[in-house]
Amino acid sequence: MKKVGFLILILIAVSCTSSKKEQANHINVKQAVEAKKGMVATAHPLASEVGAQILRDGGNAFDAAVGIQFALAVVYPRAGNIAGGGFAVYRKTNGESGSLDFREKAPLAATYNMYLDENQNVIPKLSSFGVLSTGVPGSVDGMIELHKKLGSLPFEKLIQPAIDLAENGFALTENEAKKLNDYQKDFLKANDSSTYFFNDGKWQTGEKIILPELAQTLKLIRDQGRNGFYTGETAQAMLGEIHSNNGIITQADFDAYQSVWRKPIEGKYKQYNIISMPPPSSGGIALLQLLKGSEQFEFSKFGHNSLESIHLMTELERRVYADRATYLGDSDFYDVPVDMLLDSAYLSNRFSDILLDKKTDSKDIKEGNVDIIESIETTHFSIVDKNQNAIGITTTLNGNFGSKVFVENAGFFLNNEMDDFSAKPGIPNQFGLVGAEANAIVPEKRMLSSMTPTILEKDGNLFMVVGSPGGATIITAVYQNILNVVEYGMDMQQAVNASKTHHQWLPDLILYEKYGLDSLVLNQLQEMGHKMEPRSAIGKMDAVLVLPNGTLQGGADTRGDDTAVGVH
Ligand code: DON
Repeated sequence: MKKVGFLILILIAVSCTSSKKEQANHINVKQAVEAKKGMVATAHPLASEVGAQILRDGGNAFDAAVGIQFALAVVYPRAGNIAGGGFAVYRKTNGESGSLDFREKAPLAATYNMYLDENQNVIPKLSSFGVLSTGVPGSVDGMIELHKKLGSLPFEKLIQPAIDLAENGFALTENEAKKLNDYQKDFLKANDSSTYFFNDGKWQTGEKIILPELAQTLKLIRDQGRNGFYTGETAQAMLGEIHSNNGIITQADFDAYQSVWRKPIEGKYKQYNIISMPPPSSGGIALLQLLKGSEQFEFSKFGHNSLESIHLMTELERRVYADRATYLGDSDFYDVPVDMLLDSAYLSNRFSDILLDKKTDSKDIKEGNVDIIESIETTHFSIVDKNQNAIGITTTLNGNFGSKVFVENAGFFLNNEMDDFSAKPGIPNQFGLVGAEANAIVPEKRMLSSMTPTILEKDGNLFMVVGSPGGATIITAVYQNILNVVEYGMDMQQAVNASKTHHQWLPDLILYEKYGLDSLVLNQLQEMGHKMEPRSAIGKMDAVLVLPNGTLQGGADTRGDDTAVGVH
């Protein structure tokens, strides 16, 4: 029965004319995957299989997470990484929860004005391209700490599948071949024509990628732990690239890097308990603000992507992102007023001027004038094992392929995470996000993030693991994914597939997915004064839902090669 339905949906999809190709992105050709003994959802089928196999071999969700992080660094180099950073939010079978911050840090030699010229203007691209854009990487330390605290199988066993993939090779998917071809000019500019991923834009679907240098680096990590990355030949290879291009990271930065266990942000939305990432992510705080604000309105009555629901979400988002810009930064360096931002009285006052039939202007909330540049590459994966240990990890190089600098001798890209700092108050970064003192550059500080790995509990039990890439849109994508399940009764696959919208205070416009909105609703929003701007995708989610009978339901986004694999 399921197969017949699936075929019909495929036929509908292929019968679309080519001019409607993008529209097909929003047809739910994937069905939710269900299984009892474990669920893994990641951005790449090979990484999902690595995680599922670790679960079949008796590993727990945390073991699978370590295996997947390294596997993605091989098969999904545009966002998977060892020289980037990320966040993990977990919940153990006994209900204990926590979060791990393995976000990159500003180098010791970083300075407040490092991306400004002599006239105090931001130098274009300096914070987002090339080695000056690179933060001190955190992923390897993060995975080692995660394994030390929560893992059950030997580390060597978890990293081995990634080594095998790098050494024996793997086939490029159509999406990944295209993405590599799209970035050829940047690879050439940041490296030279001998760099591995430069081939004049001729990458083909199915072509085999073999990365012996990366395999060797992963073996060093397998055998020496963090020293295999932060010291010795890997560190030398990174520093070689960095110093030959006026970069400022030194061995002292690598020696000083430590990931940090943090108390998650927790709060209630109706009967759900939300567990999410605290600063240096803005995600947990902003998500809870949005959900608490949503309690004031009857979203289920208005319906998914109706005029009212999109208008109300927009008005909530406008205010929440204005708070983000002013108050949020790394709480190790800046006194983030977390309690105030989540205080019920503060929030009901903050949202009290929202009207159902009238748009607010962002300029009346706070001045500013910025542009959004589209770029959505980071990656999130969600895992639940047979004992309902759960973990969500969002990890990134920031932009596609990070700084575009490829460490030739060690086989990986360096991140461009420094662009997530506010280079100058009020001047937008590549996601159009503005910031201020709270997110100014300070040596060893972590740049503010939107990454929002999140776990929901219902009545004290595990309910959902969710997260997304998408820069500024991560928070709003996660928010809508939760509403989709809780308010509109979608299953996990429908919820991740559903077309999404986004507003971030500045610029004052609603992004929506092309062909994703009813044209009547689109017109009505415009008549209300909302400026509408289409884009190709908002979020790219991999999530797991626990059904009332304990079955695990995986949802893997149709916007990419994302794949959910169940363990039976
Ligand atoms: O931490 C952040 O918020 C960004 N560096 C995330 C970048 C991202 O999601 C890019 N696109 N998917």
